[in-house]
Amino acid sequence: MTSATIPGVDGPTGGASAQPPTQHKELLAWVQEIAELTQPARVVFADGSEEEWDRLTAQLVEAGTFKQLNPDKKPNSFLALSDPTDVARVESRTYICSRTPEGAGPTNNWIDPTEMRATMSELYRGSMRGRTMWVVPFCMGPLGAEDPKLGVEITDSEYVVVSMKVMTRMGAAALEKLGTDKPFVKALHSVGAPLEDGQADVPWPCNSTKYITHFPEDREIWSFGSGYGGNALLGKKCYSLRIASAMAHDEGWLAEHMLILKLISPENKSFYVAAAFPSACGKTNLAMIQPTVPGWRAETLGDDIAWMRFGDDGQLYAVNPEFGFFGVAPGTNWSSNPNAMKTVEGGNTVYTNVALTDDGDVWWEGLEGDPDHLIDWKGHDWDRESEEKAAHPNSRYCTPMSQCPTLAPEWDDPKGVPISAILFGGRRKTTVPLVTESFDWQHGVFMGATLSSEQTAAAEGKVGTVRRDPMAMIPFIGYNVGDYLGHWINIGKNADAQKLPKIFYVNWFRRGADGRFLWPGFGENSRVLEWIVDRIEGRADAVATPIGNVPTAAQMDLAGLDVDANDVDEALKVDVEEWKKEIPLIEEWFEFIGDKLPSGIRDEFESLKERLSGE
Ligand code: GDP
Ligand code: PGA
Ligand code: MN
Repeated sequence: MTSATIPGVDGPTGGASAQPPTQHKELLAWVQEIAELTQPARVVFADGSEEEWDRLTAQLVEAGTFKQLNPDKKPNSFLALSDPTDVARVESRTYICSRTPEGAGPTNNWIDPTEMRATMSELYRGSMRGRTMWVVPFCMGPLGAEDPKLGVEITDSEYVVVSMKVMTRMGAAALEKLGTDKPFVKALHSVGAPLEDGQADVPWPCNSTKYITHFPEDREIWSFGSGYGGNALLGKKCYSLRIASAMAHDEGWLAEHMLILKLISPENKSFYVAAAFPSACGKTNLAMIQPTVPGWRAETLGDDIAWMRFGDDGQLYAVNPEFGFFGVAPGTNWSSNPNAMKTVEGGNTVYTNVALTDDGDVWWEGLEGDPDHLIDWKGHDWDRESEEKAAHPNSRYCTPMSQCPTLAPEWDDPKGVPISAILFGGRRKTTVPLVTESFDWQHGVFMGATLSSEQTAAAEGKVGTVRRDPMAMIPFIGYNVGDYLGHWINIGKNADAQKLPKIFYVNWFRRGADGRFLWPGFGENSRVLEWIVDRIEGRADAVATPIGNVPTAAQMDLAGLDVDANDVDEALKVDVEEWKKEIPLIEEWFEFIGDKLPSGIRDEFESLKERLSGE
């Protein structure tokens, strides 16, 4: 199948156009409706072919959006520098337009869906003038699934089309799965920068007005004004988390902000772990971990999103809906994350907002090498004396999962993998120990519900401010947070407790008085994973503390670890006085959630308070 224009919409070439490559009536009607609203110069169905990639990347180079990197260093790879105002997810402009405000509240922005549709329709009116309207069919999760989760993104951004090919199963195969009548998520995206006749384009078109809107009951997404990944690649956070979490709530499964990792013990036994950390708190790194503990191996299944359902055997199985990695570049290097480095070395990668070296390669803070001169992410000359960072702190690589050297062979299995442990974690300088095991499912859900983390550059806002981030999902829950936590509690009530994953809370980011990290992190996190697996296998010890079961340094395998023993003790410390200071913060958080806070969570809170006061 080749790209084809749709009849009824005149392109600059004019005249007769090929038949659209689908007879899906609802899709064709929607394409027609959006084309009439947005008035593009032409409508093209993306087929996801290599030929299309070559054509589009060449076009993006021509337009100045992409810079082709040196093929000897980074084959078939490109650098995009965004508009400096369009570098991260915009949570203040992200809306859950459920039919009632309670359906979204209190953690989401809400506007009445009818009003939002009217407002945004006016923004979309003519917004694709002078551009191509791309119809991008995609599938989240394996195409071979019994009930593949399909979507179609309409976009006027070639950067989005190319990135969607990396991040999702995109193009002809997904269109075929759509058949003539299969349901799909409608995902509409416009950068909101129409081109009038003769008007020259800019390298990164976007609009100062931005909306990232979800209509959960209609399973629909409308995004306007931004080209940035999390705002514009609508299969990712918008579909696979916000819309899918609403589907999961209705259908009894879980759509979570979690990596999926396979650990293989020295005895060759496999354990699958899912872990939820807020954006820029270590998911991609843990997903590709290179264990330092002798005899242990790790394989990667996913670095950002897990869809989990119960199998017939009563176990919880996880599938990664994505097809690529959209990783944070700064801090990634051959020692912190060699597997990410090898993945991008394979080529076929789109970099956004990293720096360009004089020999046509990329560089970012934390990467090996000490370049004298660069072009920074704003397109300016940079040298070592420069005050500004060469790469934006939220600069990204977008790279195919299939190139990851540690990819697990079962990564594309529609059945998914049975999860033995769920980890929750965040960035906390104080209070939260390196690892804590929950007493049971409900206590683990409480840990997730009270998860807290310092803000990162992955979203707008003040970096470093501590906020509650339940299950690392606060920006991604597509419905009421109280109902979401209730859903987690119910999952535990309806399952066989013996078969449920064990829940742990981790913190790689605790700091000493001088501000240094107490725990070396990265590959050394395998020592924490080993302890977790040993707990599951009933062969590791822990101390029962008021907040959960925490190991002492002696109860972990720290052989050969090159850090100050005091630091490890500090990283593992449960300081009751520090925890007492968390209580009013949790109280405040629960008051904010309001009446929908499940009673199970309230019970856990009361028990925690009692344990902390020594009763
Ligand atoms: P994600 O957005 O959750 O996938 O986070 P990433 O894995 O991309 O990591 C975000 C940032 O945290 C990067 O700068 C990493 O280098 C850093 N990071 C990841 N894991 C660790 C760790 O174990 N310790 C420390 N100190 N930093 C880490
Ligand atoms: P991440 O998400 O930071 O969790 O990798 C990508 C994004 O913020 O768009
Ligand atoms: Mn990531």
